[in-house]
Amino acid sequence: MKLSDLTIEEKLRLICGKGAWHTEDFGGKLPAVFMSDGPVGLRTMYEREDGVWDTYPAVAYPSVQVLANTWSEDCARLMGECLGEDAAERGVDLLLGPGVNIKRNPLNGRNFEYFSEDPCLTGTLAKAYVEGVQSRGVGACVKHFCCNNLEFDRLHQSSDVDERTLREVYYRPFEIACEAHPVAVMCSYNRINGTYGSEYKKGYDVLRGEFGFDGAIISDWDAVRDRTAAAKAGLDVEMPFNERNYERLVADFKAGRITEAEIDACASRVLALGERVLSMRGQRVPKRTEAERAEAAKTVAAEGAVLLKNDGVLPLAKGAKAAVCGYYAKPDDVKTLAGGGSSQVVWKDASFDLPAQLTARGVENVYEQGCAIDTVWSVRMDMRRARLNASASDVNLVCVGTGNLIEFEEGDRRSMRLPDVQEKLILETAKENQNTVVILFAGAAVDMSAWLDSVAGVVYAGFPGMGADAVLADLLTGARNFCGKTSETFPYELADVPAAESFLSAGVTRYQEGLDIGYRYFTSYDMPVLFPFGHGLSYSEFVYSDLTLVPTETGVRASFSIENTSERDGAEVAQVYVHECAPLVYRPEEELRDFVKPFIKGGERTTVALILPMRAFAHWSASRDEWVVTDGVYELRIGASCTDIRLTAKIRIENGKISVL
Ligand code: BGC
Repeated sequence: MKLSDLTIEEKLRLICGKGAWHTEDFGGKLPAVFMSDGPVGLRTMYEREDGVWDTYPAVAYPSVQVLANTWSEDCARLMGECLGEDAAERGVDLLLGPGVNIKRNPLNGRNFEYFSEDPCLTGTLAKAYVEGVQSRGVGACVKHFCCNNLEFDRLHQSSDVDERTLREVYYRPFEIACEAHPVAVMCSYNRINGTYGSEYKKGYDVLRGEFGFDGAIISDWDAVRDRTAAAKAGLDVEMPFNERNYERLVADFKAGRITEAEIDACASRVLALGERVLSMRGQRVPKRTEAERAEAAKTVAAEGAVLLKNDGVLPLAKGAKAAVCGYYAKPDDVKTLAGGGSSQVVWKDASFDLPAQLTARGVENVYEQGCAIDTVWSVRMDMRRARLNASASDVNLVCVGTGNLIEFEEGDRRSMRLPDVQEKLILETAKENQNTVVILFAGAAVDMSAWLDSVAGVVYAGFPGMGADAVLADLLTGARNFCGKTSETFPYELADVPAAESFLSAGVTRYQEGLDIGYRYFTSYDMPVLFPFGHGLSYSEFVYSDLTLVPTETGVRASFSIENTSERDGAEVAQVYVHECAPLVYRPEEELRDFVKPFIKGGERTTVALILPMRAFAHWSASRDEWVVTDGVYELRIGASCTDIRLTAKIRIENGKISVL
């Protein structure tokens, strides 16, 4: 159907969605685009016979932050493909994900749904995820555009951000993800420099005009205040259908407050959305079975688990007897193993039992919950028995965390610390057993200052999804190797984070730290942290060597070798940071520009090569309103984390030409 086939009444109706999850189809004349959350598993809702809304169970994948901890485009593509297949099976046309908002503050209640504090890692993985979803004949919707970096007062607050920071940090993941031609982008609830995300014409123009976005912009659910202003800005579909907003739009049109041409611009993009979705439906062919998708979820959980600390206690010694405690080893409800809100999935297989998985691998163990998530009552009830078990065992595994009661949409965490009872469980049982390993089930960085020195090991499992009990048992026993690295800094405490100051200020949130987010700040100001960005241990050892740089037509080619000097096979995430030696404008100490993750057999060595384009050296010039590469000397730093730099080399850039120093 063409735009000219529609009456103005129909066009006004078309840009307003239908019900909670569809676009308008005029009784089958157009394809009704069917949308579902979300980023970490399909949350398709349906109305039961008794009229109550329910959710279909689905494969529950690890949270996006675990996906980011994989530092693996292959994992992101795999998870995208599987989600696309899940969606295709339910007839869903548009998957409402991934979320690419930057982690400016560790307390943000939705950090578990987002990738990272770094735009390069976020954008690169989001692009692979979108490619994966869309390769299965299902559209992806990149969200939330933009600067929805806290949940507090998310419907009203304004994110006050300067243009350079927007370009280099907050827009950048959208820019990279747009290379995958996502079917849609979702606006954010908040205001950006005073303008609602649903009316953010300036940003939409950048998306469409500069990032090559050619899909539809849809609203976050109920994010539209004024449908007329949103349509004038270029927001194509309001979701869900809102009778009042629609009637006001019709009245505004009649009163001449919006022109037919402005309605047409949105309506034509909704028609294009329908056509694109229709042709994508034709690309859906059966791919993996559901069991294979559940297995893929486990692959991501395994690659995303981060071994933060290991004083030699892991892998568990053969024949070691383990005490296991903590609610998360065997939760009463698997919902508490994930963050809450629109991304919460009803698990297809709702079992999670780490003690049983350890038993299945021959690890004799005894389990005692020890305490609940956060109740004083349970401290009195069982902590004594957890202590006794710890003292009578070779190793003590404490499973602590947050989950949907602490990390959820529409609210932020109150503290970076774990609930008191859980910290107490760690400390009390660690007193009884020096081989204590903490396994952390949380969606964001946790302040470990109260207990880190008392334990011998820490595994950051994140919200690892379905089947991760088996994965963790494999990792603990050494049947699998660790290869995840942190996608966000773990500061000592919240007060160390520059954004902490501006958090929870009413009305306006000033992003006064500018570019100094996460490791960009900590490395620039030489601030010590608990675990730096990009950190993660392995059972293998890796040695880096032979960095060679060669200028190319479009940038510089960097190659280097990594040797696995251990006997164990393993994968290593090597990170490439750029440092400008004498900048003319403020630049953070170093910025991630690329990364690789080769798998290297024990005793073997591999050479990796990558190309850094000119853009890797550019900054957004506030005086020229464009990307600028200044003449000067730049250092390339190859690191096992942002502070564990293993190799460096310098280049000079002069008049756009690179020479190696
Ligand atoms: C969330 C979106 C989600 C939508 C639909 C909103 O509250 O912010 O991320 O896709 O609901 O469930």
